[in-house]
Amino acid sequence: MSELRLLPMAVIDLDEVLAIEQRAHMAPWTQVQFTDSLDAGHWAYTLRVLGAEDAPDTLVGYCVLMPGVDEISLLNIAIDPSQQRQGLAQKILLVMEDQALAKSLSKIFLEVRASNAPAISLYQKMNYQQVGIRKAYYPMHEGQREDALVMMKELVRA
Ligand SMILES: CC(C)(COP(=O)(O)OP(=O)(O)OC[C@H]1O[C@@H](n2cnc3c(N)ncnc32)[C@H](O)[C@@H]1OP(=O)(O)O)[C@@H](O)C(=O)NCCC(=O)NCCS
Repeated sequence: MSELRLLPMAVIDLDEVLAIEQRAHMAPWTQVQFTDSLDAGHWAYTLRVLGAEDAPDTLVGYCVLMPGVDEISLLNIAIDPSQQRQGLAQKILLVMEDQALAKSLSKIFLEVRASNAPAISLYQKMNYQQVGIRKAYYPMHEGQREDALVMMKELVRA
């Protein structure tokens, strides 16, 4: 893949972000959820592939994390379905983990749908451990609900 850039997300990115969000997620965030996160100062980043010469760059993914006192929570991460399985989510998370450590945040938490096998595989590969379960946390189709797995990784300096 060509050169990648991880850049702070801004309101101007939201049309592109929402287009991927709609394609990637079972229950996509709304524009308001993204703007609330930006307003709250959450860590929100876009991953872009630089275009050749004068060609525009392309948004391929993004993440949103909420920093706490000594931990950080991953609220959203998505990669454009056409660009998945190239290590991009892993790249984003590694940068976020480094940045968290640099701010003395020693743990990263996340919640994931129990049925979201790709995301669970990603987190397991990156040494996140399941530390809890929230029963019937996420809405599903036809009034059904599904569990959230709570996962955590202790961040340590290499
Ligand atoms: C989960 C998601 C972010 C992964 O993005 P990605 O860029 O495709 O992931 P990566 O290429 O970095 O994958 C790294 C590893 O995760 C695992 N993995 C990722 N996607 C997988 C899949 N579809 N099936 C099985 N394992 C998968 C693999 O171990 C993979 O390593 P490998 O390709 O060498 O086998 C992407 O599938 C996505 O955007 N899903 C929709 C949104 C979502 O569910 N977000 C998470 C909410 S908690």
